[in-house]
Amino acid sequence: MTSSRTATVRARANIALAKYWGKSDVGLNLPAVPSISITLDPLITETTVRFDEALAADRFVLDGAAAREKETARVTKVLDVVRAQSGLGLRAEVTSANRFPTAAGLASSASGFAALCAAARAAAGLAADDALESAMARQASASAARSIYGGFVELPAGVPGDAKLAATPLAPASHWPLRIVVAVTAEGRKAVGSTDGMGHTERTSPYYRSWVEAAPALAAEVRAGLLARDLPRVGRAMEQSTLAMHACAMAAGPALIYFRPATLAVLARIRELRETDGLGVWATADAGPHVKALCHVSDVERITRELAATEGVLRTLVAEPGPGVERQLS
Ligand code: DP6
Repeated sequence: MTSSRTATVRARANIALAKYWGKSDVGLNLPAVPSISITLDPLITETTVRFDEALAADRFVLDGAAAREKETARVTKVLDVVRAQSGLGLRAEVTSANRFPTAAGLASSASGFAALCAAARAAAGLAADDALESAMARQASASAARSIYGGFVELPAGVPGDAKLAATPLAPASHWPLRIVVAVTAEGRKAVGSTDGMGHTERTSPYYRSWVEAAPALAAEVRAGLLARDLPRVGRAMEQSTLAMHACAMAAGPALIYFRPATLAVLARIRELRETDGLGVWATADAGPHVKALCHVSDVERITRELAATEGVLRTLVAEPGPGVERQLS
């Protein structure tokens, strides 16, 4: 047992092509709509979990500094599940480092919770189990369920009460050489986090019901386009899913507006590159002001150049489909 009390796991961030926004079961953190994502290289989080009898409480060190109480409480919730699964009563030290700039405009919570679930189970001596760890990660943060798997991944909508809901892989990273160009448009953390933002949208937006009704067909389009490697089909459905989600949030009271002027400038530039220059590029944006452009590898240099030169863009970063959790690191 002693030898298996430490484990290090690597997981990657992901970007949703079909968006998750809203919950069908808040207690179990089940999504109200299906979502489809790409797991992204090289946006890596590396997490070590060490169960230690000398510890009086769980400790969480994030990027070299002690994490805030709220963040540590979310980690303890995951550790409690692993302690119940394994019968191990020890407290743990969790050390997590993002190998990509957290100001890159891509959430590290998905990679962070995916790595934590896999590392905590491995450290407790439990066997690797993608589906179980995806369900655990989903309970912590739904988008994290998708980061357990590599390549192209779907998280179905949850039927209330379904504690086992997990993501499923649609195709490996090698399926399609796509690229995501991130156009960073602002510094700092987002004003309203996803969990609070979607709760507020559900309670106050008159468009929430319409969003939940429309989302499955958009996800089906993304899925079909992905499997057929049909970029315009994926791109069109992805943009509509993105803008429907944001429109729904904007109609909340008070309005939830994640876009900034530079966000709109990049969206307009991407449309122009498509319509005037004939490039295969489509946009998406999460609960923040940054834009992520989806394109084929053959166009990535030109698109990166164009977006870097767009007014309000602070920097760009290119990501590509990558693997799921890597467990044998220690
Ligand atoms: C806009 O997974 O961060 O990025 O389950 O409440 O932790 P919680 O939410 P989270 O939401 C992600 C929302 C999104 C779209 C997506 O990734 O599908």
